Amino acid sequence: MAAGGTPATRLVEHIALPGDREVLIRPMRPSDAPGIALLYASLEDDDLYLRFFTAHAPPERFVAQLAGVGERGGFGLVAELHEPGRPGRIVAEAAYELLPDGDGELGITVAPPQRGWLGPYLLDRLVRHAGERGVANLHADVLVANRRMVGMLRARGCVVVDHDERPAMVRVAIGASRRTPTWPARHERSRLLVEVPGGRWHAEDAARAAGFDVLACPGPSRGWSTCPALRGEPCPLAAGADVIVDAQRGDLGADLQGAHERLHPTVPLCVELPPAAPGGTPGGTGPPGTAGGAAPGPPGTRPAGPAGSPEATRRPVRRRTERVRAGTDDIVVVGILQRLARRQARPPGQPDPPGQPGP
Ligand SMILES: CC(C)(COP(=O)(O)OP(=O)(O)OC[C@H]1O[C@@H](n2cnc3c(N)ncnc32)[C@H](O)[C@@H]1OP(=O)(O)O)[C@@H](O)C(=O)NCCC(=O)NCCS
Repeated sequence: MAAGGTPATRLVEHIALPGDREVLIRPMRPSDAPGIALLYASLEDDDLYLRFFTAHAPPERFVAQLAGVGERGGFGLVAELHEPGRPGRIVAEAAYELLPDGDGELGITVAPPQRGWLGPYLLDRLVRHAGERGVANLHADVLVANRRMVGMLRARGCVVVDHDERPAMVRVAIGASRRTPTWPARHERSRLLVEVPGGRWHAEDAARAAGFDVLACPGPSRGWSTCPALRGEPCPLAAGADVIVDAQRGDLGADLQGAHERLHPTVPLCVELPPAAPGGTPGGTGPPGTAGGAAPGPPGTRPAGPAGSPEATRRPVRRRTERVRAGTDDIVVVGILQRLARRQARPPGQPDPPGQPGP
C-alpha cells in the first residue's frame, strides 16, 4: 500500500490504439450504470450466458448496484474506448464485491472487438488493487465451458473451491495478496488439498460430507510457473493443509510428491496411484484400499511401489506418505484421510495411538 492508504497501482491509464483511438481505464463509478448497460445490451446471447448464466441482459437495478460497488467496499474498473468523431463508450468492466470473510468475488466483461488482450489486462489490475488493499483471494463462479475465463484464471494459478453440475460450473479462487490463493483465516474443519488434473477429484464430495474443507489444484496450465512447490518454494495452501492428496499422474505427480515431501514435511500426503493393471492385485500388505505388495524399505520409510513399476524407481517414501489405488472406494479413501488428518492434528510430542506408525 502506498503512503496515505492509497493503492500504488495506477488506477487511470491511457492506452493508445492504432487509428488515433485510445482506451481509457479508470475506476468504476455509479454514473457508469447506463454505459455498462449499453455494453451488456451489445452482447450476443452466448456471451450473456457466459457472464450471467442466462441469455438475458441483467435488470437495471443489477447494473446500478454493480456500478456502485465502490460504495460497498469493493472495487471496479471500466475501459472506455475513445475514437475520432464518436463519443466515448464503455467496452469492458471488471469488479469485485467484498465477501463477509474479506475475500472478493469478481466478475468481468469485455466487448468482443477488444478481446484477446483487455480481459487479462483488467484482471491483472483488479488483482493487484485487491492485493494492495489486503484482500487475500478473489473468487469467481465460471461455467466450465467458458474457455477464455477458465484459461485466464488458470494462468493465474486458480484453485477449485466447489462444483455445480447444472449448469456445469466451478467456483475458483485466485490469490490477490500473493500469487497463490490461501485458506480462509478462520476454519473449523480439516483442510484437504487435492492435486488433481482439471481440479475435479472423485472423492471430494465424500470428503466434504466427512467434514473436510476441500480445495483442488488443477495443476499448471502452461509451464509450471504458477505452482510454488514446483518452483521449490513452500506453498501456503499445502503448508496450511491437514492432508494433501496427490492424484496427478506421471512426471507431474512424481514431481509434486517430491516437492511436498521436501517442502511440507509435516503435512501427511496420500498419493493416488494409477489403477492396478488387469490381473494384478490391487490390495497388498497395507490396510484395505492402500497399495502395497512390495518388500519393506529402510526404517521410517515405506516401499515406493510394486517392483518394476514407475513408482518403484522413486526414492523411498516417508511414513507420512500413504498410497492408495485409484478405483478404491471413496469412503475407504476418506477414512484414510481422516486418520492422516487426526495424526496431523495431534499436538507435538504426543505419541501415536497403538498400532500406528509415528511420523
Ligand atoms: C472472459 C473474458 C473477460 C476474457 O477476456 P478476453 O480479452 O477475451 O481474454 P483473452 O482472449 O485474452 O483470453 C483470456 C485467456 O484465455 C486464453 N484463451 C483465449 N482463447 C482461448 C481458447 N479458445 N481456448 C483456451 N484458452 C483461450 C488466453 O490465452 C488468455 O490467457 P492469458 O490470460 O494467459 O493470456 C471475455 O472473453 C468476455 O468478456 N467473455 C464474456 C463474458 C464472460 O465470460 N465473463 C466472465 C464470467 S465472470
